[in-house]
Amino acid sequence: MTTVLVAGSTGSLGSLIVRNLLDRGADVRALVRKSSVHKLPTHPRLVPRIGDLTDGVDALRPHVDGVEVVVSAVQGGPEIIIDGQRDLLRAAERAGVHRMIPSDFSINLYGYGYGVNVLSDLRRTFADEFAASTVARTSVAVGAFPEYFLGDVHEVLDPVAGTFSVWGEGTVPIDITTIPDTAAYTAAIALDPTTAGRDVHVVGQRLSMLDLRDEVEAASGRRWNLVRKGTLRDLRAEIARRQFAASSMFEYLALQYQVAMFDGTASLRDVRNADYPDVVPTSVAAYLAGAGAAHFAVPERAWRRDEWPTAV
Ligand SMILES: NC(=O)c1ccc[n+]([C@@H]2O[C@H](COP(=O)([O-])OP(=O)(O)OC[C@H]3O[C@@H](n4cnc5c(N)ncnc54)[C@H](OP(=O)(O)O)[C@@H]3O)[C@@H](O)[C@H]2O)c1
Repeated sequence: MTTVLVAGSTGSLGSLIVRNLLDRGADVRALVRKSSVHKLPTHPRLVPRIGDLTDGVDALRPHVDGVEVVVSAVQGGPEIIIDGQRDLLRAAERAGVHRMIPSDFSINLYGYGYGVNVLSDLRRTFADEFAASTVARTSVAVGAFPEYFLGDVHEVLDPVAGTFSVWGEGTVPIDITTIPDTAAYTAAIALDPTTAGRDVHVVGQRLSMLDLRDEVEAASGRRWNLVRKGTLRDLRAEIARRQFAASSMFEYLALQYQVAMFDGTASLRDVRNADYPDVVPTSVAAYLAGAGAAHFAVPERAWRRDEWPTAV
């Protein structure tokens, strides 16, 4: 059976990739920081390997000995996404690893260039490392996770104001895939040797922002007033304005994703769901009827003090 090393094995996505790989019969090594080893499940085919991507190539090398595929689902800044993943790749080269799936799992970030999105730039810089590598790269693109896209950070849904905000016309199809579906596809792709050296695009559902609003109204049973925030030109100006004043990239990062989603440059191409028929992706309606219903809840911090519920 294939042996796969998963870096980022305790994260939101990585932990589910581990579970899906085990379900598919793979032998899994979980690269895990010492402080996080308690987060791993126990399983006869799961071997924890204590390590940190910042440990350097020599320290990472034993973890990838005998491994066929490396899957990275780490998150972080340049020291992780560029330097840490590069060291893992160098270790993988020395160990004769065949393939690596880097921690992309994004919109089609290779559909646009440098300077559009700070986090995409890190991933694109790391992708260049494969040009001279013996390890074949397989990048997995899925569009937006609804868990994040419909959360606070993207400023689309505002349950307190009862609004659904859109930049641009709202008619361009966008790609949405849940975290569990991304994990299920990634495990299938990791165990599919024909993906060596290819980008693989898979998607849960493709729909426009206006259609997404209809789905939100149907699932929540309430009206969400459409707020048209401006044109895509206005969106670019808003990003520039925030960048000028920002104390953190998180003040404009979500809008950087949206500009590439709404102008179509980040759209998935050559979607390969049909290659993995045993993965049945969740529709947006099904997501919103389940875990996604949490997006409709008015957060407690938005309640006025005199409205707080009294304990019974
Ligand atoms: N398409 C989308 O809408 C979307 C949205 C969000 C994220 N993503 C992508 O999904 C991927 C995974 O994100 P996530 O949200 O699952 O991340 P996450 O929950 O923050 O997990 C990050 C993982 O990386 C590990 N890690 C961090 N620094 C490390 C280091 N120095 N050495 C070893 N491991 C380290 C963490 O370990 P510890 O447990 O020890 O901290 C954790 O397992 C990323 O590529 C991210 O960009 C996509």
